[in-house]
Amino acid sequence: MAQLRVAVVGAGAAGLCAARHILARPAVYAPPVVYELTKNVGGTWCYEERVGRYANGLPIPSSMYKNLRTNLPKEVMMFPDFPFDEPLPSFLPHQEVQRYLERYCQSYRVTPHIRFSTVVEGVIPVTSQAEGSQPKTVWEVTSSDKEGVQKTESFDSVFVCSGHYSDPCLPDIPGIEHFKGTVMHSHSYRSPEPYSGQSVVVLGAGASGLDIAIELAGVSGQVILSHGKPPFTFPLPPGLRQAPPLARVNQDGAFSFQDGSTARAQVLLLCTGYNYTFPYLRGDALGLEVRKELVSPLYRFLLPPAFPSLFIIGICKLILPFPHFHCQVQFALRVLEGSVRLPSRAQMEEEVREQMEAKRRLGVPSKHLLRLQKEQWGYCQELARDGRFAPLPPVSRSLYEEVWRSRNVHPQNYRKANYRLASDNQWELREWHP
Ligand SMILES: Cc1cc2nc3c(=O)[nH]c(=O)nc-3n(C[C@H](O)[C@H](O)[C@H](O)COP(=O)(O)OP(=O)(O)OC[C@H]3O[C@@H](n4cnc5c(N)ncnc54)[C@H](O)[C@@H]3O)c2cc1C
Ligand SMILES: NC(=O)c1ccc[n+]([C@@H]2O[C@H](COP(=O)([O-])OP(=O)(O)OC[C@H]3O[C@@H](n4cnc5c(N)ncnc54)[C@H](OP(=O)(O)O)[C@@H]3O)[C@@H](O)[C@H]2O)c1
Repeated sequence: MAQLRVAVVGAGAAGLCAARHILARPAVYAPPVVYELTKNVGGTWCYEERVGRYANGLPIPSSMYKNLRTNLPKEVMMFPDFPFDEPLPSFLPHQEVQRYLERYCQSYRVTPHIRFSTVVEGVIPVTSQAEGSQPKTVWEVTSSDKEGVQKTESFDSVFVCSGHYSDPCLPDIPGIEHFKGTVMHSHSYRSPEPYSGQSVVVLGAGASGLDIAIELAGVSGQVILSHGKPPFTFPLPPGLRQAPPLARVNQDGAFSFQDGSTARAQVLLLCTGYNYTFPYLRGDALGLEVRKELVSPLYRFLLPPAFPSLFIIGICKLILPFPHFHCQVQFALRVLEGSVRLPSRAQMEEEVREQMEAKRRLGVPSKHLLRLQKEQWGYCQELARDGRFAPLPPVSRSLYEEVWRSRNVHPQNYRKANYRLASDNQWELREWHP
């Protein structure tokens, strides 16, 4: 049988993982072509001081900020078959994750297969049927290199690994035109120093909002963290207070919150998350609805039932990203090889519809349908069972849950802990530096 040709869009953690597993099966797959729009591997983890666009007009994708440290310990954040360096602490500065991904890339000899500074502009399925045989889809991938030379190449499969933390989600705020200060999104936040002495409203208390508000409290005059979660009861640093979500900006430029209270500030920092966007895919041609907050239907959160040779790696939120990619990629390759047989298109669509309906009945809003959190463990286990590869060890879940607990007790201190994996089932707290 001829080797299968696979295109990988993006050389972040997901794309490197896809390429590494494709290269491990030379009997089945030709070396992949990995398209990467920047000059580097690492995606999100490749810190870029600049914000906005590169000289060639392409947007700078990374949302990494200068002082970011991981919010997951390296012991479970790692790809299960590739540990971080042992002497490193559990919670790492972003530079160490970038070094780790570069090492992963080199160890599995992925680099020669990456086309840097090359942007994928179109991915189109072309289906044909020879007489007496099954219909066959090939994927036409159109890309442009740094000289602007456009090329279209054919593949048997495409792995979409272009990430989803680059396109800022900007909420509609009534009266925002009255605010004369600075409005920006966390995507363009790099460090607290430019805000020294300024008053800031941070909107949204996901990982970015909370982390950045704490960081800003160290330098700003006053920081208000405006969010719709139940008020945090853990200790916050002096100078940081909470408020309900923003209702509007008044005509005099003051912020008005949902409880009727008001405040003035010089900066509004939107930490309101990111949109799904795949400018090179045509959802309608793939039988997919691609919205800012939801992409559906995706069978097993992975493939469009109408085109089961296209795989979107890592679309879910609230996951353990690298181990999750590791499971999805291995499962996808077994689908392509034919060792995992998929149900019919209609059955897959029905299964996704039922799955989404069940979540909606539980009150989950559309924007959270791709959040997994507790569901992720059973999900990864089923991929491993059906794909017949090693499941994630139980310790991944127990340490992940311990860190979530500890983060909710003290978001300023939880990174002081160091852990050690004693076995596949057990972790130990090695040290704690309060
Ligand atoms: C601020 C921040 C902090 C985070 N902290 C953690 C953490 O502590 N621990 C953790 O496990 N996870 C963390 N994450 C999650 C992080 O997104 C994942 O760990 C992981 O890096 C995602 O990898 P990815 O390959 O899916 O996407 P990305 O890292 O975004 O990589 C996508 C790549 O695709 C390229 N690309 C995009 N479009 C195209 C195109 N059209 N053509 C060619 N190339 C293209 C991009 O240039 C990029 O290199 C964090 C995310 C953010 C934003
Ligand atoms: N290592 C780290 O320390 C670190 C730091 C930053 C980010 N990250 C990672 O980066 C990724 C993105 O995180 P993120 O925090 O940028 O995005 P996010 O997880 O999507 O969080 C965005 C938050 O903004 C809220 N929000 C949206 N619109 C709002 C509005 N109008 N008013 C009030 N709140 C609003 C959302 O509430 P709803 O949920 O109700 O929509 C959500 O809580 C995650 O994977 C995260 O773990 C990690």
